Amino acid sequence: MQTATQNVQAYRASLLYFHADPALVETAHAWHEDGLLLVADGKILTAGDYAALQGEVPPGVEVRDYRGKIIMPGFIDAHVHYPQTDMIASPAPGLLPWLESYTFPTERQFADPAHAAQVAEFFLDELLRCGTTTAMVYCSVHPQSVDAFFTASERRGLRMIAGKVMMDRHCPDFLRDTAESGARETEQLIQRWHKHARSLYAITPRFAPTSTDAQMQLAGELARTYADTYLQTHVSENQDECSWVKTLYPQARSYLDVYDRYGMLRPRAVYGHCIWLDDGDRARMAETRAAAAVCPTSNLFLGSGLFDFERADQAGMLMSLATDVGAGTSFSMLQTMNEAYKVARLKGSYLPAMRMFYLATLGAARSLQLDGTIGSLAAGNEADFIVLDPDATPLLARRRVTCNSLEEQLFALALLGDDRAIAATYAAGQLVHERKQG
Ligand code: GUN
Ligand code: ZN
Repeated sequence: MQTATQNVQAYRASLLYFHADPALVETAHAWHEDGLLLVADGKILTAGDYAALQGEVPPGVEVRDYRGKIIMPGFIDAHVHYPQTDMIASPAPGLLPWLESYTFPTERQFADPAHAAQVAEFFLDELLRCGTTTAMVYCSVHPQSVDAFFTASERRGLRMIAGKVMMDRHCPDFLRDTAESGARETEQLIQRWHKHARSLYAITPRFAPTSTDAQMQLAGELARTYADTYLQTHVSENQDECSWVKTLYPQARSYLDVYDRYGMLRPRAVYGHCIWLDDGDRARMAETRAAAAVCPTSNLFLGSGLFDFERADQAGMLMSLATDVGAGTSFSMLQTMNEAYKVARLKGSYLPAMRMFYLATLGAARSLQLDGTIGSLAAGNEADFIVLDPDATPLLARRRVTCNSLEEQLFALALLGDDRAIAATYAAGQLVHERKQG
């Protein structure tokens, strides 16, 4: 007992987390206005009202006072490209010219492990500044870009999912693997990194147009052999891309069906964008427990289209929010919610703030089959949490005065907040970012 309490950390703040989907359950969240969070050995011990729990703080443990702020689970970004950090906000008329003009030349630099290591550090700094504690990350085609990424994320004690891009056609020679080398390197990386420390591996065929039939087959086989790994790719982002896929895979019923035929629809498979799916595709996503990563800042930036939240919900699809940097224009999941809200409005539907915070925490964890591990402050979860400052800017502070409910307060944070609203970020109970005042 004595050793168990030695490592306890205690935090006093308002606490918010979810135990269900607010779209399905009236009260899906837990809210403790004056709350206490106890952490030990990198895990949540308990979360609740300060008045009820203060007696559980072991003698000698100092309570960190964050009153006036909100502690919630760290954000989860379900789709982001770390090699594209340096080319964020590069203009192009749509996805395919953007890939040609900026993405491929930028990703070429990741052949150099020193460059990859340096960008990985900046990328992780940026995620943590924005309160993102877990991300599903595309590396480049170079296996050394994966080594650089996980080396950096493990040094910080982070739970990260990442993988080497596989692409063996329709890309420059300098970024091309082969069906065999892509599969062999992927297998080696799975063995090196999957479930090593907090790392998880994602098999990463970039998207159907840049893989041959042979590569798609091998990626599908790896997904079957290593059934507890992740798989990530892009689907139905842009109409030109969809037409191209139709010519490349004329036998498939739809773009999503291309992946289905290779056995890539399964739990822990995460599909970026999912804009131009039809109802048959949506039903198939729900049935197979594959998940959509919804990337509103990217979709608006590239003019790709508007994700249909209502139809995705009607189908019962798993989904979460994602930045898709470098096509995404912000690392902040708050700014991502801001744009998600507007996308939903343009489709005639409505996303309450509670739903958006759910989708960036427990909803994402469920999409990744990681609920019970991350995305919640419930006892036993890993202690990845953030301290949100509702008074972070003069405008936020002024708006807060006139908020009449928690929903209104969260909505203002989602619409007006960004990295400035993240006072601190903790991973596995360790402070990994603290915002400088001023
Ligand atoms: N489709 C294939 N590759 C990419 C990429 O890097 N970014 C986006 N947004 N879409 C893609
Ligand atoms: Zn992407």
